[in-house]
Amino acid sequence: LVAGVDTSTQSCKIVVRDAATGELVRSGSAKHPDGTEVHPDHWWTAFTRAAEAAGGLADVAAIAVGGQQHGMVVLDTEGRVIRDALLWNDTRSAGAAESLITELGDGDRAAGAQRWADAVGSVLVASLTVTKLRWLHDSEPENAAKVAAVALPHDWLSWRIAGYGPAGDPSAPLGPDLNALFTDRSDASGTGYYDAQGADGAGEYRPDLLRMALGRDDVVLPRVLGPAESGGVAHPSVAGADVDGGALIGPGAGDNAGAALGAGMTPGDVAISIGTSGVVSAVAPRRTADGSGAINGFADATGNALMLAVTLNAARVLDAAREVLGADFDELASLALRAPAGSDGLVLVPYLEGERTPNRPDATGTLHGIRLATSTRPHLARAYVEGMLCGLADGLDALRAQGVPVERVMLIGGAAQSPAVQEIAPQVFGLPIAVPEPGEYVADGAARQAAWVLATAEKAGSEPTTDAGATAVPEPPAWSATIATTLAADPRPVIREQYARVR
Ligand code: XUL
Repeated sequence: LVAGVDTSTQSCKIVVRDAATGELVRSGSAKHPDGTEVHPDHWWTAFTRAAEAAGGLADVAAIAVGGQQHGMVVLDTEGRVIRDALLWNDTRSAGAAESLITELGDGDRAAGAQRWADAVGSVLVASLTVTKLRWLHDSEPENAAKVAAVALPHDWLSWRIAGYGPAGDPSAPLGPDLNALFTDRSDASGTGYYDAQGADGAGEYRPDLLRMALGRDDVVLPRVLGPAESGGVAHPSVAGADVDGGALIGPGAGDNAGAALGAGMTPGDVAISIGTSGVVSAVAPRRTADGSGAINGFADATGNALMLAVTLNAARVLDAAREVLGADFDELASLALRAPAGSDGLVLVPYLEGERTPNRPDATGTLHGIRLATSTRPHLARAYVEGMLCGLADGLDALRAQGVPVERVMLIGGAAQSPAVQEIAPQVFGLPIAVPEPGEYVADGAARQAAWVLATAEKAGSEPTTDAGATAVPEPPAWSATIATTLAADPRPVIREQYARVR
């Protein structure tokens, strides 16, 4: 058995699966406080509760952790968390992001944006860890001075699972060894001081960029593991007590890379996740460097790149429509499907609270083309659904503009289950759509990675190493999410044409 963990912004979810077949054996979850800054101890408590709810982890032979990206966890020399973690959705470092961009461009913002994209794959926004370190340096110098190590949420939780933690904490029997911290390429690529394609593709930290933010680079950064490499063994009090040799800990992943692994995405697939934010992502052999900032060139969890656009207006647009129309989830869908494609010219530009792709933080939404004939509940419902999907289609175009092949859309997230979204998405995107069975894609991806780490370790143990001293890394296990619904492309160009005129 293997365990996959998703330490997300709101909760911790754990799935236990059969390593060979992928069959789901047990699962558990526990909520923790959310918001934009939180003490990591809440993640640990939620993890232990979720493990309990999943019937314990004593029988798993490997475990891996996927998690919310970018969050800044700063530790002192004793392994203590210095201040609450600042999460990906905390925007107080927006000014720091702008300063760092201009500084790298020697005063020229456009040049700086391109230099960041070239260096680390992304133009800085407040989400990225490096901007939070600059904010810490400027706003809390006494805390910045104490920083001995910087980790991401998933790195920190993996470290705790291995038995490390603050000095004197009974739940951390191995104590505060900061050099035992490890991470993976995908999550490291969201820090802003790691280049996944540097050092001839092996990946490398950029201490110069860390120094720009924090004023020094003498801090421990987690060791970056390869896709199927193990970072150590779980402490038997946490997992693997009943298994010979204990439970191997996988490198883990950022949540978007974890979901891509869990959903079984291959090149040509684009995942569109309709959650609190909309995430449009694709696996590609290499990242590009989009100086406009629309596309983040992260790494995935298999050795490829994960090209990714984030829109701020996704499921919340449907929530707003439900509020305006006084309708529930099902009624909104049936209303929307009663109006024609293009909603007779009623168009919603859905920037209800600013937008990140395109980068218009202060934008507001627009409802255009309202006439007597379009002042009906079905027209309004349809305009909201189409507007949200057009916003995501802009993310798709940004991917295409970077040369990413787009052949099929995998629609994930809660709103993907809406019949209106399922009918209108093939019209807006003009592509075939696959809807996987609803699942915990991030935790599932982490479980798949754990099975991969286990198979790799077993292979290395059973085969003599080659002359070069290395054995070939096997492919990830064949299992991944099953596709529940396949929808044929049904392009209705009118929808995006109207939208393009208004936007
Ligand atoms: C990606 C991003 C979010 C978080 C959510 O850049 O900021 O998708 O990973 O947890």
